[in-house]
Amino acid sequence: MRVRVSPPARMTTVHDLPTPAVVVDIDALEHNLATMAARLPGPLLRPHVKAHKSTALADLQRRYGHHHFTCATVREMVGMAHAGLGDDLLLANEVVDLDRLRELASLQDRAMITVAVDSDATVDAAARAGIRHVVIDVNIGLPRCGCAPSTAGRLADAARRRGLVVRGVMGYEGHLMVSDDRAAQRRETLSAMQVLNKAALDVGGDVISAGGTGNHDVHAEHRADTGVTEVQAGSYALMDTYYGTLGLPFRQAVSLLGTVISTQEKWAVADVGLKSLGMDHGNPSIAGCKVWFCSDEHITFATEKVESSAAGSSAAGAITMRAAQPTVGSRVRVIPAHVDPTMAMHDHLWLVRGDEVLDRWPIDLRGW
Ligand SMILES: Cc1ncc(COP(=O)(O)O)c(C=O)c1O
Repeated sequence: MRVRVSPPARMTTVHDLPTPAVVVDIDALEHNLATMAARLPGPLLRPHVKAHKSTALADLQRRYGHHHFTCATVREMVGMAHAGLGDDLLLANEVVDLDRLRELASLQDRAMITVAVDSDATVDAAARAGIRHVVIDVNIGLPRCGCAPSTAGRLADAARRRGLVVRGVMGYEGHLMVSDDRAAQRRETLSAMQVLNKAALDVGGDVISAGGTGNHDVHAEHRADTGVTEVQAGSYALMDTYYGTLGLPFRQAVSLLGTVISTQEKWAVADVGLKSLGMDHGNPSIAGCKVWFCSDEHITFATEKVESSAAGSSAAGAITMRAAQPTVGSRVRVIPAHVDPTMAMHDHLWLVRGDEVLDRWPIDLRGW
């Protein structure tokens, strides 16, 4: 598939971009979307938009066959509905703010809206706000949202008594996304899905929603056994070095373009710091260089070359620009360790092929 692009009038190469800038390599992105769509076609994937927060990118995912989306915030749900991407939107998160829920409910004639609930209080909030559809969020091992599996059926009954349509269950096994023992990851994913399945029998409905990028392959292979009807992966589209260690078939598509602003004998500094990068998964990487540390607006990296790529999956991916012998004014591509919070810090991304700038897409689903 070829993306329709409208190149900006004056900025034609990455060297013209103001930095720090989010750049997305279109070929790597399309490789990732095509690879995932082959493994989990159509409604088997409910792409999570929190990973990129861009309706333009979601629209591209739609063109790869996925019409149902997962969101983490009301803002993402509302933005997707307004962008005409509201065929089936799941808010995979609990909300008790009635004003926000009412805003969501007001969109139900133009979009299919479903909200996760995991308590009597969230059922009550959904019912009072006029939300029509819910899923029961079940805790399958990650100490975050989700009711105890044994209470899922009772909560579904309570939701139905309040007039809500219960579409099924969701569970997020986030603690099983990254593991250096992939056999154990598979085993534990399958056992978490047994728990979710049992809850699904108690709850009723036909949705069993789970999973993410790190174990999408387990879900794709074992669908017949797990009963999972859709996988909520999001990071696969752009990727980061955290997932890059797993040997997944996705390429590194996003990087932060920076400008070298200072060089010393043994190190160089570029203008990409922790205010433009999600750092909760550790330091970002620069291909061929050792990153020392990030501060607010700086990344400090060693100028001596390293043998192997420090950028995880970048060797197999599209990010090849390296900072060999950086000079003041030269550009570097910094690869984030965690894509989601990185995207949430920027207004727009630049779509590129190599050094050529093809388009500018707003990151328009930011905020809450
Ligand atoms: C509810 C939920 N579903 C799915 C995912 C999977 O996302 P990823 O593609 O990053 O593994 C996440 C990530 O945090 C999540 O919170």
